[in-house]
Amino acid sequence: MSEVTAIAHPNFALIKYWGKTDFVNNIPAMSSISLTIDTLTSTTKISQQPEMQENIWELNGERQPDLGQLLPTLDYLSKVGKVNEPCLIQSDNNFPTAAGLASSASGVASIVVAYNSLFDLGLTNQQMAKAAMLGSGSAPRSLFPGLVLLDIENQCDCHTLAEPNQWPLSVIVCITDDQRKTISSREGMEISRKTSPLYKAWLKVNASHIKQAKNAINERNLRALGQIAEENCKQMHEVMRTSNPSINYMTNKTINCINAIETIRSSGVDLFHTVDAGPQVKIICKTEDSGLIQKRISSLPSVRQTLVANIGYGARVVNEG
Ligand code: PMV
Repeated sequence: MSEVTAIAHPNFALIKYWGKTDFVNNIPAMSSISLTIDTLTSTTKISQQPEMQENIWELNGERQPDLGQLLPTLDYLSKVGKVNEPCLIQSDNNFPTAAGLASSASGVASIVVAYNSLFDLGLTNQQMAKAAMLGSGSAPRSLFPGLVLLDIENQCDCHTLAEPNQWPLSVIVCITDDQRKTISSREGMEISRKTSPLYKAWLKVNASHIKQAKNAINERNLRALGQIAEENCKQMHEVMRTSNPSINYMTNKTINCINAIETIRSSGVDLFHTVDAGPQVKIICKTEDSGLIQKRISSLPSVRQTLVANIGYGARVVNEG
């Protein structure tokens, strides 16, 4: 076998991590709960290239100057698998890259799965999660389907809390701006860890948010999950705002979109929002309400485009040859 293609989808955190305990091993300072979606996809083909001197990475058809954040992941994989063969890694996203839509999580997860299969490494879930985490702290979550817990209290164990068919939810991604972000989450969270006066309190509140969100997920209680997710999102953005320099990924368009979501909710529709390290807003709702919400939200001047996805599956091989 000389090439393998794998796909993975972004995941959006409902209970977020923002800050690391170990910058070198890229270990989050707090647990997180996310939702893996479908429709938005990173596709990675890895092929063995014996004539090449080193690994080469192409992203969306463009050769990258270096392996960047993939380097620690690939170093770990080649060490664990005792692989010494150079590869061509070709990744494509069918959605905007580095715009707060978790393209690095899906990209890294698809690479880990493709590499594991290409070299028949037989990695355990724990090893795959470690490899993914070295590339992006949120990437282990894209290895798994549905609602996913990344548990730093338990050796960074990552597993599904609810499968897609156990709770059919939809996500409406409201794209307000598709420019690349100016400050990466990696840099941003390090600034917050060092400078935000709220950082310690943020670490503390995480454990309680995780517990409440797990309960809401067990009960399939969208309203309760929404309340805790919105509170968690608000607190993360407060940590960012109180950092020095102050970090703000939200724009006026983001705020307009959030206000419109409040209005839709007050008309009796069950939905909630979350915002990550970018200006896009993600709405989580019951699948049967997604059409109506999309129609109302896409009429806003601040929303350039909406993408509707359902709760989706983990990273997987789609083609071997
Ligand atoms: O690990 P990164 O660089 O993908 O950072 C993720 C940061 C947030 O999306 C804001 C939070 C999260 O838990 O996904």
